[in-house]
Amino acid sequence: MEVTPDLLTPYKMGKFDLAHRVVLAPLTRCRSYENMAQPHNTLYYEQRAAPGVFLIAEASAVSETATGYPHVPGLWSQEQVEAWKPVVDAVHAKGALFFCQLWHTGRKKSHTADFGAPPKLETEEIPQMVMDFRVAARNAIKAGFDGVEIHAANGFLVNQFWWFMDIGRVNSSQPLHLDHFTKDNQLNVNDGSSLDNRCSRLATDVIAAVVDEVGAHRVGVRLSPFARYTDCSEADAEAHALHLVHFMDKLGVLYCHMVEQGKCVNGNTGKLAIPHRLSPFRKVFKGTFIVNGGYDRQEGEKVVRDGYADLVSYGRLFLANPDLPERFRKKVDLNKYDRSTFYTSDPVVGYTDYPFLSQEAQVA
Ligand SMILES: Cc1cc2nc3c(=O)[nH]c(=O)nc-3n(C[C@H](O)[C@H](O)[C@H](O)COP(=O)(O)O)c2cc1C
Repeated sequence: MEVTPDLLTPYKMGKFDLAHRVVLAPLTRCRSYENMAQPHNTLYYEQRAAPGVFLIAEASAVSETATGYPHVPGLWSQEQVEAWKPVVDAVHAKGALFFCQLWHTGRKKSHTADFGAPPKLETEEIPQMVMDFRVAARNAIKAGFDGVEIHAANGFLVNQFWWFMDIGRVNSSQPLHLDHFTKDNQLNVNDGSSLDNRCSRLATDVIAAVVDEVGAHRVGVRLSPFARYTDCSEADAEAHALHLVHFMDKLGVLYCHMVEQGKCVNGNTGKLAIPHRLSPFRKVFKGTFIVNGGYDRQEGEKVVRDGYADLVSYGRLFLANPDLPERFRKKVDLNKYDRSTFYTSDPVVGYTDYPFLSQEAQVA
């Protein structure tokens, strides 16, 4: 007899056995000084680890030029691999599954004004960028991670290409050599390829390289088709994402992790609601489908029960509740997150000092 899946029922993702469907979303916390994982990072992840929980580590830079934010961890050197090892070991010791998100910040601006804008992306840097992802994926496995997630969401990597095209058309004094452009630096609309083919080239190159390096069974990809970080139209961005999801499906990528469009007001109830626009992607992708963005326990339960998603990842709620799955199971109140400490670099405050349910009971 088939049992209706629930947020808190087990799930098999490829060869990995998960105890439930509640996933830690990748969260940059800017507490890895000099781009090295630190002992307090171990405590933070260990707090959120438990048997069969799937944790996705914060975005780790794939190269020295990829760190658009201060104090983010990296995975381009052997030293960084060694720094990650105790973190990964501690998570595994508690029986959790641990993937690492890999990113290149491209030319997206930093959170902090004094960190400066990253340099312009040049055409000839693209093969190097693809190689950086490949090496970082290899390093993640060396550090003991179970797999990697390619960060192609929120304006990073994939969406960069739209900027790239724009620079190519309007600003660049250098001729671009990619086959997407004509010699006079115009977007080559007559090159016979579809729009989404041209635009997703960087992302498909990165995904293919990482899959080749560590195997599709250890690779997930994160996309946010509705994020408006660039000037491409919504319809183009959706078509582009759909093209990528087809590509990922063909390669047998383990999971597709998608961010919902921001909440909007429901016309009937007047309440904020998740628009649930990810079904077309879910239909195309045969692997594990993870959704994210504004979910709480009830919303998560609903989408898993309806088959809209296999897993639901939680960012801010998991950040503030190290024992989130347990709290969901017991249907108890949650700690509130403190936005002001999201990206500060204190090793404790707003990081490892959110109380567990058991600690609250002791205080009460
Ligand atoms: C402090 C913070 C850091 C984040 N860092 C990342 C990141 O490194 N990579 C990523 O893909 N998304 C990142 N995000 C986005 C989250 O993964 C998630 O998409 C977002 O918080 C919405 O989910 P939620 O409503 O469950 O919090 C970050 C969000 C926050 C609040």
